Amino acid sequence: MNAVEIIRKKRDKEALSDIEIDFIIQNYTKRKIPDYQFSSFLMAGFLNGFNETETAALTKCMLYSGTVIDLSDIPGLKIDKHSTGGVGDKTSLILAPIVAAAGINVPMISGRGLGHTGGTLDKLESITGFRTNLNLNEYKNAIKKCGAVLIGQTEEIAPADKLIYSLRDVTATVESIPLITASIMSKKLAEGIDGLVLDVKTGSGAFMKEQEDSEKLARSLIGTASAFGKKVIAFITDMNQPLGTHIGNWLEVVESVKVLQGEKVETLLEVTLNLAGAMIFLGEKAGSVEEGIYLSEKIINSGKAFDKFLEITELQGGETSLLKNTDNYCKSNYEENVFADREGYLSSIDNYKIGVASLELGAGRLTKEDKIDFKAGIIFYPEIGSKIKKGDLIARIFTDKQNVIEQTKKIITSSIYISEESVKKIKMIKTIIKGD
Ligand code: URA
Repeated sequence: MNAVEIIRKKRDKEALSDIEIDFIIQNYTKRKIPDYQFSSFLMAGFLNGFNETETAALTKCMLYSGTVIDLSDIPGLKIDKHSTGGVGDKTSLILAPIVAAAGINVPMISGRGLGHTGGTLDKLESITGFRTNLNLNEYKNAIKKCGAVLIGQTEEIAPADKLIYSLRDVTATVESIPLITASIMSKKLAEGIDGLVLDVKTGSGAFMKEQEDSEKLARSLIGTASAFGKKVIAFITDMNQPLGTHIGNWLEVVESVKVLQGEKVETLLEVTLNLAGAMIFLGEKAGSVEEGIYLSEKIINSGKAFDKFLEITELQGGETSLLKNTDNYCKSNYEENVFADREGYLSSIDNYKIGVASLELGAGRLTKEDKIDFKAGIIFYPEIGSKIKKGDLIARIFTDKQNVIEQTKKIITSSIYISEESVKKIKMIKTIIKGD
């Protein structure tokens, strides 16, 4: 067996055997196959696809390239959630404490901001002192102690994915459903979970703009999770507008705290409660997703969810006093308002541009070396369907960079479309797809 033969087979649209997939992944990970050959393999796979069996084999090789965490000595089910990412997507910060307070273990290995989207790790690290780089021992102990932990991918978790992802990033082979599936699932399966809830975003602020593509990705992820014996439910949720009002790392922590303390941010709450409800159902503490939603609301109203967030933060070294009084956080040098220049109904938003505006303000990385300004971001007030009068406050921006203010205001203004006719609110949950 050799790499050239495997590349040729994929080039000619032939299916690869488990042994061939194992050979190419293992040898690339050991650096015995050079980047130029593996790039050809990736591009052949990108163009000609991988079937379900090949996708499962890719996932398995990438998963076993590193440690698969064993949490079997911790009593109770372990359920995680994965989101494909979006603008203002802070659901992990809210649902991890809710689900842990419901008595289910939540082992979460999360990512950083990618492109125009934010990442859970960056949001958590905006809480002064919060450590996301726990080692696997600390990871297990945190779950034992408080039922939830949120960390980043360690060296031990799916090292093949780390290598392959960096190469995909620079060879235009990221947007492949089987490659995305293997990449996501190899990391999730390594966490030691029993079940997984998937939030596959669709719309202008998502990586998958069309609902049909999001559903294809969801089905591929479900197929692979089921092949590994995991319980799984996928939601296709809307990303045509920011989720909630706050975009930017610390700002998203602030909004999460408000929701955990009972504030009703409708769209954000709708998505979060559905995901939390599904996790509680998979964790067998509720007989249905609906009952899980009911329990989640009760847990928020009792104050237990916010208390659990404080407990998680304390355990991971974060300053809980900042969560108890979010006004004590340091302030941006510049805070500016963006006003509506027309009247009518907000008919659509180019949510990708809102994400980009937030990056420009300092909330994300424009180059790999960039340092994030945790305070930077946007509070974006209207929703699709909102009635707007000329002069209404559309957004408030926060930054330390004076030179980006005018340009960012223009991006925000040009990303919203206002019509004269009334517009319906968006349905946040598009579809629910259950695994076997
Ligand atoms: N997120 C991942 O972890 N992997 C992908 O391939 C795409 C998004």
